[in-house]
Amino acid sequence: LANRPDGELPLKGLAVLVTAGPTQEPLDPVRFLTNHSTGKMGYALAEQARDLGAQVTLVSGPVALDAPYGVDVVDVTTARDMFDVVTSRFSDTEITVMAAAVGDFRPVEQAQDKIKKNGRSSIELELTSNPDILAWAGEHKRPDQTLCGFAMETRDLETNAAKKLNGKHCDMLVANNLRTPGAGFATDTNVVTMIRENREIELPIMSKEEVAGAILDEIFEIKR
Ligand code: C5P
Repeated sequence: LANRPDGELPLKGLAVLVTAGPTQEPLDPVRFLTNHSTGKMGYALAEQARDLGAQVTLVSGPVALDAPYGVDVVDVTTARDMFDVVTSRFSDTEITVMAAAVGDFRPVEQAQDKIKKNGRSSIELELTSNPDILAWAGEHKRPDQTLCGFAMETRDLETNAAKKLNGKHCDMLVANNLRTPGAGFATDTNVVTMIRENREIELPIMSKEEVAGAILDEIFEIKR
């Protein structure tokens, strides 16, 4: 898409919603549960979509990246915050790509004060599940909306990703295996397989910008 000779912007006028980064689930005023997501993949997607002419909303968990210019960035902390923002904006969106590493669980209780040791050698932490934002979007998706999810797995990547594609009613699932060198959280590169209903495309190792371009190409193809 990026190398169109006519300089035409293929996503011009389309509203694109991207989720990115980790979530933080507080335990008490000083501690939280989170994961290693840096937000790089989601930010790259938002920037590429912007460059292709889209109006982009980036719903971002806490990351160390600068807000991209020309993108409407909505900062969130918890999975429930992210759920609230996405569900309120989803119906105005043509393309949604969920690259965030959303915490599956959160502590049942958030202590008002810092949890003290008080001589204890162990404590129990009870967790409850967070809303699944991608699954919600899949349930509420109109035929004119395109939905793309991510799957990060440490084993049985393709099987799990295909299950997710159907289970969460996505048009496409981008699968990356955390155990593949050059893929996953802390790198500037990624190695992904794009999975659609009857089509699977394995991409070689690429920069996250290039991966973002390939994903948007494929989404554009679905929309046509
Ligand atoms: O089922 P799993 O968490 O592996 O699915 C990953 C996909 O679902 C990602 O696109 C992620 O952004 C999304 N997700 C979500 N809300 C959750 C959990 C995952 O949107 N609570």
